[in-house]
Amino acid sequence: MSDILQTSDLRKQYQMGEVTVDALCGVDLAVRRGEFVAVMGPSGSGKSTLLHLMGGLDSPSDGEVTLAGRRLAHLDDDQITIVRRRQVGFVFQFFNLLPTLTAAENVALPLLIDGKRIDRYSARIDELLELVGLGQRRGHKPDQLSGGEQQRVAIARALVTEPDIVLADEPTGNLDSKSGAAILDLLRRACDEKGQTIVMVTHDPRAASIADRVVFMRDGRLIRQLDNMGRQDESVQLIMDVIAELEL
Ligand SMILES: Nc1ncnc2c1ncn2[C@@H]1O[C@H](COP(=O)(O)OP(=O)(O)OP(=O)(O)O)[C@@H](O)[C@H]1O
Ligand SMILES: [Mg+2]
Repeated sequence: MSDILQTSDLRKQYQMGEVTVDALCGVDLAVRRGEFVAVMGPSGSGKSTLLHLMGGLDSPSDGEVTLAGRRLAHLDDDQITIVRRRQVGFVFQFFNLLPTLTAAENVALPLLIDGKRIDRYSARIDELLELVGLGQRRGHKPDQLSGGEQQRVAIARALVTEPDIVLADEPTGNLDSKSGAAILDLLRRACDEKGQTIVMVTHDPRAASIADRVVFMRDGRLIRQLDNMGRQDESVQLIMDVIAELEL
């Protein structure tokens, strides 16, 4: 399988007045097309920063991101915007829905922004809302939805363009276990049935256990990975063993 996403010696420093924060300290990660990768590590270890750089939302201090064969550093802002819009779906840690739009309109937003005719996609929008369990909530605005429901709208929105790559930051973080399991199932199926590539940050070993591979970060570095994950119960145990061993 070919790599759809690669980072090489990726570094990110944030300058906070006198203080320099090393958020990423040389990350090399290659993600194969159709692969499901989970990213784990303690708070502040650089997981969100990595996801943002991989999706071209922010630029590295050094090193490189190659997305679908294109080096992001070689693209101008407009080109990056188009790659992002067409090929990447984001689920953010703090879901940012537009408050004045309904659930269905929020899901449709990436299509609208890309100049698509929404009426041609109403079946897909309805299907996605059903899949995330919000078939009865399509007309609700974000402030009429619970936090978990808003998160599910954000996931439907990330999938609506059928992007090659889905970058999801704690997509089940705010969900009860039943909704969380439904979301994980949806992501797993996006991978298995549509060949989409998923990179998902999570703190939850059970969520990570559905991935094909789990990478562990600490202090801005990848320090371990578990590949060829097998049965889910065994995988959860393996992940917990690594977390204990590395004291993450
Ligand atoms: N915009 C920013 N300006 C300055 N420092 C930042 C900024 N964003 C992140 N950092 C710092 O970079 C480091 C990595 O942050 P990041 O958000 O990537 O961590 P994380 O692994 O996603 O943590 P969490 O699990 O809490 O979401 C942290 O020390 C954080 O304080
Ligand atoms: Mg984060």
